[in-house]
This record gives sequence, C-alpha cells and structure tokens, in this order.
Amino acid sequence: MDAATSLKKKLALPLIVALIFILLFNVNLPNNNNKSIPKPSGPAGVCSLGVSEQTITPLKNTKHLLVSAYVDQRVKDLDIRIIGIFKRDSIQPLHCVFCCTNVLSKTTPATILQHSDHFGFPFTTTDVMCQIPQNCKATRVTLLTTPDKESASDSTWLPIRNQKSDRQKEENMKFDFTVCISNLFGDYNNVLQFAETLEMYRLLGVNRVVIYNTSCGPELDRLLQNYSQEGFVEMVPWPIDKHLNPSRGWLHSEHGGDVHYFGQLTTLNECIYRSMERSRYVLLNDIDEIIMPYQHKDLMSLMNTLQNQNPNTGVFLIENHTYPKKTFNQNKWGPLPQWNGVPGFDIMVHIYREEPNRNIYHPHKLIVQPRAVQQTSVHDVLMMSATKFKVPPDVCRIIHSPIRTPTDPPLDRLHVDTRLWDFKDKLLPNVIKVLRRAELLRSETQN
Ligand SMILES: *[C@@H]1O[C@H](CO)[C@@H](O)[C@H](O)[C@H]1NC(C)=O
Ligand SMILES: *[C@@H]1O[C@H](CO)[C@@H](O)[C@H](O)[C@H]1NC(C)=O
Ligand SMILES: *[C@@H]1O[C@H](CO)[C@@H](O)[C@H](O)[C@H]1NC(C)=O
Repeated sequence: MDAATSLKKKLALPLIVALIFILLFNVNLPNNNNKSIPKPSGPAGVCSLGVSEQTITPLKNTKHLLVSAYVDQRVKDLDIRIIGIFKRDSIQPLHCVFCCTNVLSKTTPATILQHSDHFGFPFTTTDVMCQIPQNCKATRVTLLTTPDKESASDSTWLPIRNQKSDRQKEENMKFDFTVCISNLFGDYNNVLQFAETLEMYRLLGVNRVVIYNTSCGPELDRLLQNYSQEGFVEMVPWPIDKHLNPSRGWLHSEHGGDVHYFGQLTTLNECIYRSMERSRYVLLNDIDEIIMPYQHKDLMSLMNTLQNQNPNTGVFLIENHTYPKKTFNQNKWGPLPQWNGVPGFDIMVHIYREEPNRNIYHPHKLIVQPRAVQQTSVHDVLMMSATKFKVPPDVCRIIHSPIRTPTDPPLDRLHVDTRLWDFKDKLLPNVIKVLRRAELLRSETQN
C-alpha cells in the first residue's frame, strides 16, 4: 500500500507536466489513422451523434438488429431492456454503454436473453438487459462488441423509452385497451374489412391500435394515414424486408427465410413494452380477428368480471374460432349499405361459425396486463409474473374473418353467429363516416 502511494506521488508531477505540455503545444498523440473521422469535441461529445430514428437499427460489427430500449422498472429502476432480433448462431458477448447527460458512461456487461420461441428460424427475438451505472442520468444506450467505450464513437444510439419523466407525461394508464396488430405486409388492401374491424374495436372500448407496417395496398394506406392522423391508430414503420429475408410462414422447415412471419414475435413484444406505462390491457391479435365478449357489452365490463373472479391473473387466453368464406343469405338482413368501389369484403356477412373439433388443439390469442409480461409468443406468454386463465368460449371468443383460413366445411358443422349484428346500428354509420372522411366511398367522390 505504502509503496504504491509513494509511487503515485512520484509519478504525479511528471504526469501533470506532460499534460500541460500536451495542452499548450497541442501535441499530436500517435494516431494510427490520421484520416479517421474527426471525433466530435465539446461537452456534448460523442453522445450528440447518431441517434437512431429507425425502428430497426443494425448493430455494428454483428449480424444482429436492435429495435428499441425501454426502462424496465419492474426489475429495478436502473435496468434497461433492449429488444432486438439476433442471429442465433452468432451470439457474442456484448457491452452496454450509456449517454449520461452527454457524457459517455463506462461500459457494463450485457445479459443476453434469447426468446425460446423461434420456430427454427436463424433469427430470434432477443432481450438484452443492461444496468445503468450509478450516478448516470441515462438518455441513450448502445451495445458494443468490446468493453472499450471509445469504440462507441461511431455507434448508433437508441433513445431510452418509458423513463420516469415520460411516464408522468403519459398520465399513467391513459388507455384501457390497446390492440397490437403485428405485421401488415405485401399489398394487403382489404379496406372494408379493416375499417369494420377497427370500428368494432372502438365500439368494444379499445383506445389505441398499434400497427407494425412493412407495406400495404394503396387504398388501405390512405385509410390508415387518415386513422393515424386522428390518433386512434399508431403506425410503426417496420421495414424488416430491408434487413432480412422475412418468412411469410411460421415454420422454418416449411417456409424458409430468416425470421418467423415478418418478425411478428418481436413486434408483439415491442408493443407490450410500448404499452406498459400507458395501457391497462393489451390485446395481441391479428387484424382478421376480433376478440368479442358474448355476455358483456364491451371489453371493460368483460375484464371487470374476469378480473374479479381471477384477481391474480395477468394473462387471459381467448379461444380462436373460424368463420368460413360461405356467406349468409343477405336477404335476411334487409338493405345493405352500398360498398361499391370499396376494396375488400364485408365482415358482417361472414356469420357462419365453424364448430371446433374438440379432438385437436386450438391455439388461443391473448389479453394481457402488459406489466405482468416479460416475454411473449403468439399463442402463449413465455415469461410472466402472474397466473393465466382460459376464458370459456361462451364468455369471450375470437371472431376470425376468412382471410387466412378459407375452410369450406359442410353446413351441419356450422352455427349461425350474429353477435356482430348486435353492433350494426352503430357500426355501419361509423364505418361509412371513416370511409367518407378518407375519401374512399367511390360512389360519392365520383358525383
Ligand atoms: C406503410 O409502409 C409503406 C412502406 O414503407 C408506406 O409506403 C406506407 O405509406 C405505410 N402506410 C402507413 C399508413 O403508414
Ligand atoms: C383525414 O382525417 C382528418 C381528421 O383527423 C380529416 O380532417 C381529413 O380531412 C381526412 N381526410 C383526408 C383525405 O386526409
Ligand atoms: C383458428 O382456429 C381454427 C380451428 O378452429 C384453425 O383451423 C386455425 O388454424 C386457427 N388459426 C389461427 C391463426 O390460430
């Protein structure tokens, strides 16, 4: 100890002299590459550069992609969860570095948690847990492949979301229900079905619909632009096809590609964290599905009942039921609105419900309390801190429009299910209103 302190004293003076020398005479320290990009100077330094404005950000020197960073205050207020898409065979140790009010933090080791559901694809949803060093007011984070923080100089930073200050801004839990629609892609242009489904959600008490958009057809684009202007729909750009070869299927051995179903597993998780501080419940379903209460007038009264009966439950499993393409005799319904020129089909005429074969397994969709979930898959939650409850189908089930499941069963296996019609007096005028607002009612715009 004594020898060390005396050594320090002996070294201190020459060091200070050398430092003054360097500062006064602006000595060029050895630099193996004089042509390297000049490092930014001034107090803002390295942190002022390169904040990612994309939803998908490639991680330098790796094959991985980063999506977003969230404070996870359930673990500790110092913990950050970075959601990413990682190449499973190329996982290497990573180091977290933060911007602490414009100063670079020291690096801390990252904990890499790959999600267990990947259906054989080479890329999987991955959480990277990072601890903020003490006394750091972190605003941004990035990951490095070495513990040397200087290598952060040309990294892309992720803004840290769900911070306490944001949480106050978000007026804690301003939404009761958020629907997460994972992955709109191709030239999907089913405008009528989309408008009816969105307006149905609204009548059921949904406050926000988050849609991850890779691409869509022209009229649907117009409708969704209009909905997001209004604020009911939140469009998240999802250009996964610019980075990977996304699969249109769910099983690698059958469908090939880099990642399950356009990255659906990642967007569902991202949506849960995005909603964690602002929404009481999150519904994970597709746009061709409506989670429909059969004994309650809306989702809030349904959840009040279910939650009363199951106070410790945070994950509610809803059974999927299929509605075949066969349309019901429309004469029984009376006059229908004229949808001439509006692309897509009318969900109100698909009211035959298939009787499920009870000998096979039927996948569920989920209503979750976002704070109870750490990691989710499509039909089940992977990690959670609450219990699960299977909601009986006579209380709530999924009305599944015949888009991806065009079955054609015999009539005696079908029930007539007119639950959607209970809403038609409100639903139809609302649908007409949004189509008119987006100038999609062709019969009118041509006059
Ligand atoms: C969806 O993404 C495509 C491709 O980037 C874009 O052209 C389109 O405008 C987006 N639509 C909406 C409503 O955000
Ligand atoms: C879209 O929605 C807004 C209301 O939020 C409306 O004022 C606007 O005229 C709509 N139509 C189009 C074509 O943008
Ligand atoms: C929904 O359930 C039906 C059977 O009732 C099944 O054929 C179909 O594959 C399911 N679809 C999804 C997306 O879970």
